[in-house]
Amino acid sequence: MNRDLTSYRKSYDKKALEEKELPVSPFFLFSNWFKEVEEAGGVEEANAMTLTTSGLDGFPKARIVLLKHFDENGFVFYTNYESEKGKAMEVNSKICLSFFWPNLERQVIIKGEVKKISKKKSDDYFNSRPRGSQLGAWASEQSNIVDSRAVLEDKLVSLTEKYEGKEIPRPHFWGGYSVEPKEFEFWQGRPNRLHDRIRYVKQDENNWLTNRLSP
Ligand SMILES: Cc1cc2nc3c(=O)[nH]c(=O)nc-3n(C[C@H](O)[C@H](O)[C@H](O)COP(=O)(O)O)c2cc1C
Repeated sequence: MNRDLTSYRKSYDKKALEEKELPVSPFFLFSNWFKEVEEAGGVEEANAMTLTTSGLDGFPKARIVLLKHFDENGFVFYTNYESEKGKAMEVNSKICLSFFWPNLERQVIIKGEVKKISKKKSDDYFNSRPRGSQLGAWASEQSNIVDSRAVLEDKLVSLTEKYEGKEIPRPHFWGGYSVEPKEFEFWQGRPNRLHDRIRYVKQDENNWLTNRLSP
C-alpha cells in the first residue's frame, strides 16, 4: 500500500470570520454557523460531531456521535452509558467535540465538561425514537466483543417478540449526556492558508474572552 496524496490541494475562499462580526456569545455564533451550513446544503448530517474522550487505557479516542439538542446549557448527545466512551467519561468528564463542515470550509472545536442529563429527558428522547432504534439500544452491549452478527440479530428477534404490542422502556444503561462548553474555537478556511481562528474562553457566566489564533 503506497499512496501519494500530495496533489490534494484546495483553496479556501468561501467565507471569513472577522472580529467586527463576532457576537458576545459563542453559542450565538455556533447557532448561526450551524444554520448557514444547513442552508448551504451538501452536508447530510450537519449534527455529526467527533467526540474525543481520554480513555481508561491512557489513549485519547475520537468517534462520531450525533448532536441532538443544543442551547446555552449544553450540547446533548445520546449513547450507551456502559460503552467504552461511557466508562471513559465516568472517570474523566473533560471532553472535546468537533465539527467539520466542508461545504463552508468550517471547523468548530469545543472543550467542555460532560454530565448525564436527567432520566426524564432521556426517557422523553428514547420514547420519541422509532421502535427499531429502541430495540437496537436494548440489543447492543455497545463496545463489548460479540461472537457474531447472528448473535445480535437473534437478540433483536427475541426482543421484538418480548415487546410485541407493548411500550419499550428505556434501558437503564442508555441515555443522554450534556456537554457544558468551556472553550470554543471557530475555524474558517481562508486563501493562502491564512485561515481565521477565533477562540472564546469562558471567564464566568455569560462572559467570554475572545482571541484570534494564528492559523
Ligand atoms: C454518522 C455516525 C453517527 C453516530 N451516532 C452515534 C450516536 O449518536 N451515539 C452513539 O452512541 N454512537 C454513534 N455512532 C457510533 C459511534 O461512532 C461509535 O462507534 C459507538 O458509539 C461506540 O463508541 P465507543 O466504543 O468508543 O464507546 C455514530 C457513528 C457514525 C458514523
